[in-house]
Amino acid sequence: MNNIYPVNDYGPLMPGLVMAAVAIFHVFLAQFAVGGGFLLCYFQWLAMTDRNPNARIFIHGYFKILVLISFVLGALTGVGIWFTSIQISAVTIGEMVFNFHWIWAAEWTFFCLEVVAGYCFYRYHDRLTDKACMVLLVLYTFAAWMSLFWINGILSWQLTPGDWVQTGSIVDGFFNPSFWPSLFFRTVVCLTLASLAGCVVVNIIPDLDRDAQTSLINRSAHLMIPMLLMPLLGVWFLFAMPEDSRQWVLGGSPAMMLFFMISVGASVAIGGYAVVGLWMQRLYINGATGTLLILLAFGATAGGEFVREGSRKPYSIRQVVYSNGIRPQDVAELRKTGCVTDDPFPVTFEKTLPNDIVTTGAKVFRRQCAVCHTVEGSNAVVHLTESWDIDQQRMNIAKLQQTKPFMPPFAGTPQELEALVQYVRWVQAGRPAEWLKTLDEQALQQITGWLDDAGTEPAQARRKSASAATREQK
Ligand code: HEC
Repeated sequence: MNNIYPVNDYGPLMPGLVMAAVAIFHVFLAQFAVGGGFLLCYFQWLAMTDRNPNARIFIHGYFKILVLISFVLGALTGVGIWFTSIQISAVTIGEMVFNFHWIWAAEWTFFCLEVVAGYCFYRYHDRLTDKACMVLLVLYTFAAWMSLFWINGILSWQLTPGDWVQTGSIVDGFFNPSFWPSLFFRTVVCLTLASLAGCVVVNIIPDLDRDAQTSLINRSAHLMIPMLLMPLLGVWFLFAMPEDSRQWVLGGSPAMMLFFMISVGASVAIGGYAVVGLWMQRLYINGATGTLLILLAFGATAGGEFVREGSRKPYSIRQVVYSNGIRPQDVAELRKTGCVTDDPFPVTFEKTLPNDIVTTGAKVFRRQCAVCHTVEGSNAVVHLTESWDIDQQRMNIAKLQQTKPFMPPFAGTPQELEALVQYVRWVQAGRPAEWLKTLDEQALQQITGWLDDAGTEPAQARRKSASAATREQK
């Protein structure tokens, strides 16, 4: 039940952010690959119906870039996600694989189809008939979009598991409350990215005059038309989110709100440029502007993914697993048995721990805090607690879910909590060779009281049950 998988240490980098950074790159590339399929089908149609004399040249140039970028980097970052997530979030990944292995198998099957169709097109398109090319492109696009379809169900389930929590049904989990808004929103993003990339590619193709370039760019910009739906889809998604998550985004957490604003702002900038520049004035976009727009789109994607991931806190799978891999129903038990009692893994990153108390503290930190904090780097516990005296440190950690509602409740014994505090203080004191060898009984009693006060439920549930209780009293 409580298998321990130590979180890898990335020095000053917060493990959660390392995983997020790899994931954001991957999502960006993968969405580009999906949208690229649609764009190529469109241009193949333009070529076959003689609507644009340079459509074929475009397809050739675009596919080279699409293949290079999305197949090579997309596959590498895809492996990177698995590699980092098992080092950081093994319990969560385990839960996802356990519940959705057939969905994942389906996703990989479609990914294979996508690669095969894409490769055949890349290798043979100049020898095939127009019709055969179209079949390959449609196959490629369908497979790519279907892999988005499958993975979208798993990712949206993390935020809104919906009825699955009660029924355990894969269908309920897959078609969860945020499934459709998320799928449509991502599809629009895919089309937009592909369209922007199209504008850049046009500038790289040699031997095209300005008129030819402009007409290709304006064609490519057609894939940005669905962007008009974005505000609607965004609001739909926000409404599908659980209320507390929505609150984080809409002001409850300044960082989250900032990223949300970045995402919205960048999207509005791109959309505005598309409407005014490309459709109303039929402008030409040079390579630099196109690249800038793509960077903006990257910012929008990064902001959006950060918000989607962040708004799940304190969970990595809502109501099922906390971000640190501990399950809500195990917290009460862990308060009695301890969270590192059975932790067999040595603390490799601290070579000079002075005694068992500090070692235990380091392990507690690794088990419960290390996903979201570092010791001394980013979001460092040592700095966050610097201005507190020892009792404030004990109390605020004992009442972790009240200290900041996006943290899970503390899930260990009072002895472990005190060991954690001692570990933090030992680092704050400059890692001396000697440190306190016995725990203070009085402090332990006080910690026990604070832990009992805080309870074992997460902040939001507690607040909700408190208000439900007052409602019942009335
Ligand atoms: C789900 C991620 C997550 C986990 C797990 C987590 N924290 Fe936090 N913690 C945060 C975030 C985010 C902040 C906000 C940082 C800020 O305000 O700049 C924070 C803030 C804090 C603060 C500062 C609070 C304040 O009022 O300024 C302390 C202290 C802290 N965490 C300690 C811990 C300890 C100790 C653990 C492990 C027992 C832990 N956290 C586990 C995410 C987490």
